[in-house]
Amino acid sequence: MFTFVLLEGLCVLSVITCVYASWGNPNSNVKNQANELDKPTSQPHIIFILADDQGFRDVGYHGSEIKTPTLDRLASEGVKLENYYVQPICSPSRSQFMTGRYQIHTGLQHSIIRAAQPNCLPLENVTLPQKLKAVGYSTHMVGKWHLGFYKRECMPTQRGFDTFFGYLLGSGDYYSHYKCDGPGMCGYDLYDGEEAAWDQDRGSTPPSCTPRRRRYLERYKSIPNLHRRKYAAMVSCLDEAVHNITLALKRPLLLRKGTSCRGLVHITDWFPTLVTLAEGSLEEDLNLDGYDVWEAISEGFPSPRQDILHNIDPIYTKAKNGSWKAGHGIWNTAVQAAIRVGDWKLLTGVPGYSDWVPPQTFSSVLLTNRWHNERVRWDRGKSVWLFNITADPYERVDLSRRHPQVVKRLLLRLAQYNKTAVPVRYPAKDSRSNPQLNGGVWGPWYKEKGEEDGESNLLTNQLDKRRRKKKARRKHKQRRGSRD
Ligand SMILES: *[C@@H]1O[C@H](CO)[C@@H](O)[C@H](O)[C@H]1NC(C)=O
Ligand SMILES: *[C@@H]1O[C@H](CO)[C@@H](O)[C@H](O)[C@H]1NC(C)=O
Ligand SMILES: *[C@@H]1O[C@H](CO)[C@@H](O)[C@H](O)[C@H]1NC(C)=O
Ligand SMILES: *[C@@H]1O[C@H](CO)[C@@H](O)[C@H](O)[C@H]1NC(C)=O
Ligand SMILES: *[C@@H]1O[C@H](CO)[C@@H](O)[C@H](O)[C@H]1NC(C)=O
Repeated sequence: MFTFVLLEGLCVLSVITCVYASWGNPNSNVKNQANELDKPTSQPHIIFILADDQGFRDVGYHGSEIKTPTLDRLASEGVKLENYYVQPICSPSRSQFMTGRYQIHTGLQHSIIRAAQPNCLPLENVTLPQKLKAVGYSTHMVGKWHLGFYKRECMPTQRGFDTFFGYLLGSGDYYSHYKCDGPGMCGYDLYDGEEAAWDQDRGSTPPSCTPRRRRYLERYKSIPNLHRRKYAAMVSCLDEAVHNITLALKRPLLLRKGTSCRGLVHITDWFPTLVTLAEGSLEEDLNLDGYDVWEAISEGFPSPRQDILHNIDPIYTKAKNGSWKAGHGIWNTAVQAAIRVGDWKLLTGVPGYSDWVPPQTFSSVLLTNRWHNERVRWDRGKSVWLFNITADPYERVDLSRRHPQVVKRLLLRLAQYNKTAVPVRYPAKDSRSNPQLNGGVWGPWYKEKGEEDGESNLLTNQLDKRRRKKKARRKHKQRRGSRD
């Protein structure tokens, strides 16, 4: 009777999240009538839609050329979260949504979970659907998992979902459902539960443009950049899908509607917020990084959240000139890290792309990948930045020299968080993951020790050999470099 449905989209930058919680029983698909009758009726249905890759200005109500009437209406009748943060890439965002913990507390600090890596969201980490199941919910997921699948215990249906229909890897092809991860590493990736959904297989070459896709594309003839036009069409399709879903629902739960919420909100906050709405329990020992932000969203109270640890990635490329000295002896600024406290945001290490994509200045050349028009050149020796995000959301004016005391305070906070971090999980790729060894499908491949056979030892040896060769080559290059 109580359902939790998670619908997930594409990869890289997820900004838009819609939560729709409603009381009542709009479309009762009740499986277990007898048990259902005993339960309290106050637990809401929860539908959480997570769209990756959707930028801040890629929704109608933020002034976009992309039309999203459904999302705009939901936003205007609901609450807009204007200070809501996710991670810049997908596995980390998903892991935080699922566990209510920062990446530093699950080992997923570095990048995404790659197809061939024997890695997944640690089985010890309690997931949101597990918590909801514990208080009587049925839980369903449609869309992208991207939290690892190297062994069966990692699959969505083993991590709290009653049903799963979707794909295990990132950036899946919606039409063919085939995905390659390097030469010769191609396979099918569409699942119904724990089985490949072969009945949906249309072969590995997608039709160039289905009539349904064309319908959305036609709305955006005026956008000259083909990538942007396709993207706009996909957002329109998403908008229509949300329309179809919300039509089925009747009462939302919000007390204060048609408002904006400027309080800080982070993707880890959904875990305690939704578990509490579902009348589940949050034991002390969960050590959550998320806060219950329901009163902030629903009634306009101040957000309980004062800071966000964006990340500490100890294995990311180190900043050349970073040092403990530059970090006032508190923090080694060679390490990539970012933290937000109130208005302030502090960055250390290599900040990643410094490119900035200004709204609507995409090149009119049809097939171009050059999206980055404004390139900010940081001075090479820098390893600390401080911004007032409220005044400078585009992070253009570095205030680190003007406010050394604030810098110190935020570095101390980083150091405190760092003390609680667990080691990074980022294992080497495992060639046994190749779909060609697994019936043409991407799926669990891992064998525990003892199950290992001679063949896999051979592969490990080959990998080691390759790694040693690469290292030798690098050393050689370095030696040549220093001679020059
Ligand atoms: C998640 O699992 C990892 C790996 O076992 C462990 O180190 C970490 O403490 C767990 N974190 C939480 C919050 O459960
Ligand atoms: C929404 O529902 C309509 C009517 O059933 C259907 O034709 C359309 O394909 C649906 N749109 C999406 C994006 O699922
Ligand atoms: C973070 O903690 C680790 C483990 O305690 C430590 O080795 C490292 O130096 C710390 N990083 C920084 C930048 O302080
Ligand atoms: C880089 O570090 C060195 C040694 O600490 C310092 O002398 C130099 O000024 C730094 N460069 C920049 C651009 O800050
Ligand atoms: C940041 O900028 C805002 C807007 O200009 C200002 O109101 C606020 O006081 C500043 N915050 C701090 C901590 O200086």
